[in-house]
Amino acid sequence: MTDLVFLTGAGISAESGLATFRGEGGLWEEDEDLRALCSAEGLAAQPSNVHAFYDARRAQLREVAPNPAHVALAQLQERWIREARGTFTLATMNSDDLHERAGSREVLHLHGTLFAALCAECGNRVGWEGELPVREDCPACDAPALRPDVVLFGETPRHRHALEALATKADIFIAIGTSASVHPAARLIGLARANGAVTIEVNPAPTGTADILHVLCGPASEEVPRLVRDLLAGAHAVPF
Ligand code: APR
Repeated sequence: MTDLVFLTGAGISAESGLATFRGEGGLWEEDEDLRALCSAEGLAAQPSNVHAFYDARRAQLREVAPNPAHVALAQLQERWIREARGTFTLATMNSDDLHERAGSREVLHLHGTLFAALCAECGNRVGWEGELPVREDCPACDAPALRPDVVLFGETPRHRHALEALATKADIFIAIGTSASVHPAARLIGLARANGAVTIEVNPAPTGTADILHVLCGPASEEVPRLVRDLLAGAHAVPF
């Protein structure tokens, strides 16, 4: 049995047409004010600008589609579980729905999702399409308190403890399309390595993260299908 844990970042959706945050053409590189806006303080001070930013990202989701990396992970999940090869965990820092649209199930969204709204009053979540007006009423508590269900800078990521436990049990931990610069997600790689996992990175610009054992230096749409084939071909422990 081999327990797999995947952590994906903005890079896995880059070839689908969604901008990353850092590096060339990254959203935060292009506009530092935008990064400040996407924070708890930004939401408190400029709610309509924050809502407008995420409305635009939500609308963009309808114009893009999963790429071969998303599809390969969904196929691997299906086979890994059906053939009882071990556990399969897919965690993402992305708030897009491309993993789900590719067929992945039980995706752990550390930084929330664009396709839901969160009540700042009662914590209720409701699926959301289209624009989210400021002070929209929550269907559960009626408070005019719905906001984008995205974890902003200064807010606490989700699934933290569950993922740390999974990372310590992983036999193979694969980080795809992340700059590994945001914590606590980046800490998961070190946790997995410290507990004996084979750690693999898929990135055309290797991050140089010390805890990574193997780097697949190329775009996710090419490297992930290849890695999936290797894993399915039984190259479990060390697919090289
Ligand atoms: N395939 C694989 N990786 C790619 C590709 C590609 N086609 N294109 C770019 N990358 C890599 C870049 O080299 C970079 O290392 O994806 C990474 C994207 O890094 P970031 O933009 O920093 O994204 P991420 O690591 O997901 O950011 C984490 O930070 O800003 C917050 O909440 C935001 O969830 C985000 C978090």
